[in-house]
Amino acid sequence: MTTNEFQTFLKQYPSYIKTESIDVLRKKDYSRLDRGEHIYLDYTGGGIYAESQIQKHQKLLDENVFGNPHSSNPTSLAATEVVESARKYILKFFNADPDEYLAIFTANASGALKLIGESYPFSNGRYLLTFDNHNSVNGIREFAHARGANVTYIPVMLPDMHVDASRLDLELAQPSESGHNLFAYPAQSNFSSVKHPLEWIEKAHAHGWDVLLDAAAYVPTNKLDLSQIKPDFVPISFYKIFGYPTGLGALIARKSALAKLHRPWFAGGTITVASVQGDKYYLADGAPAFEDGTLDYLNIPAIEIGLKHIESIGYDVIGERVKTLTGWLLEHLTAMKHSTGEPLVRLFGPNSTEGRGGAVTVNFYDKNGKAFDHRFIESEANKVNISLRTGCFCNPGAGEIALGISRVELDVCFTRPDHKEVMSIDDFRHCIDGKSSGAVRISVGMVTNFNDVQSFLMFAKGLLS
Ligand SMILES: Cc1ncc(COP(=O)(O)O)c(C=O)c1O
Repeated sequence: MTTNEFQTFLKQYPSYIKTESIDVLRKKDYSRLDRGEHIYLDYTGGGIYAESQIQKHQKLLDENVFGNPHSSNPTSLAATEVVESARKYILKFFNADPDEYLAIFTANASGALKLIGESYPFSNGRYLLTFDNHNSVNGIREFAHARGANVTYIPVMLPDMHVDASRLDLELAQPSESGHNLFAYPAQSNFSSVKHPLEWIEKAHAHGWDVLLDAAAYVPTNKLDLSQIKPDFVPISFYKIFGYPTGLGALIARKSALAKLHRPWFAGGTITVASVQGDKYYLADGAPAFEDGTLDYLNIPAIEIGLKHIESIGYDVIGERVKTLTGWLLEHLTAMKHSTGEPLVRLFGPNSTEGRGGAVTVNFYDKNGKAFDHRFIESEANKVNISLRTGCFCNPGAGEIALGISRVELDVCFTRPDHKEVMSIDDFRHCIDGKSSGAVRISVGMVTNFNDVQSFLMFAKGLLS
């Protein structure tokens, strides 16, 4: 990085200076990033933990004895206390009224989504969702289909990958009159980083829809205030926010919406009474009815530590850092051109910092306008210790639109005479005539610095000819 470039950056994005506390923190608490000469640019994939989070968690484990919380002995009660404290803290962190919302511990956002899918009363109802969704939201359609619900996708449009708003309005105005209606969309896309309007929540409510707001990609860099917006179901993964622990997420749900769900089974921990001879069971009240088996009671306290860590930095600081660095990255990456005048990249998503998060998704092209395979870009980046993400990021709907893969092509592909029950990603690529089936995602996060972004831009420059 040259000082000149940094000065130009500061002139253009003076508010970056207000985020200096992150540089101090990075030196102290994330030093392994620079020690290992890592250029980590996959924050949408997973956050990076601070060393102090681990130390605090370790201290808690060193100083206490925790037993299985399904009991009332002293070690069990100690575990219950830290678990319930974390549960309370989650609601406080998201400004959720405990009379209105509750937090259910899950393994990750996908676990939270599956709880909704398997329990939502879909029969005679509708499941409405945007093309732009993670596969764990798409997967709910299988429960909806199985129970006879109508499943409808709302397209997103190029170039900036916003949702077709008129189509959405039209669909929201037509809920099923005889069943329940669920509308699902991401607060922030994990493909294009578009922030979809939170105003849709009340619009959908006005027509009688329940709203599933997938906040997994949104909450790592944006404050979600559940006193201001009132989605019914909010799935999140904690490692995406503060890196550690993995294996824990939550379903934050409105109690009124949760009351509509019917769990398809019972398990240890989810019942008050179950009888073998009587062939009867009674579900527990509230969150425990959705928490199968023994909770991850040793790791759950690390959630509270992580949330406090985020609060100590502040979402305003995190947001400013992500916005300024994303602006610089977008501007410089999209301006790169080969000697032939061909642009180096094509961007999928908004080309300014307005209404978007810190993931920049592109494909790279050579000087004749021929696309580089995203796997080639990843392997080149690997050589210089840059961690980025390639593929379709488990978001095939956004990928199909971005990469121009049509419904007809997919129908042909999935119904070919040599159709097999098993399809590998290579079979799929072959099937869509070698079209690119993925892209490259560079995502800026909480502790990214100017040097990370410049290193990536230098790498990109090296692909010019
Ligand atoms: C928007 C979004 N939703 C859901 C998920 C699923 O999260 P997990 O894999 O932690 O279950 C992800 C993960 O990348 C995501 O980005």
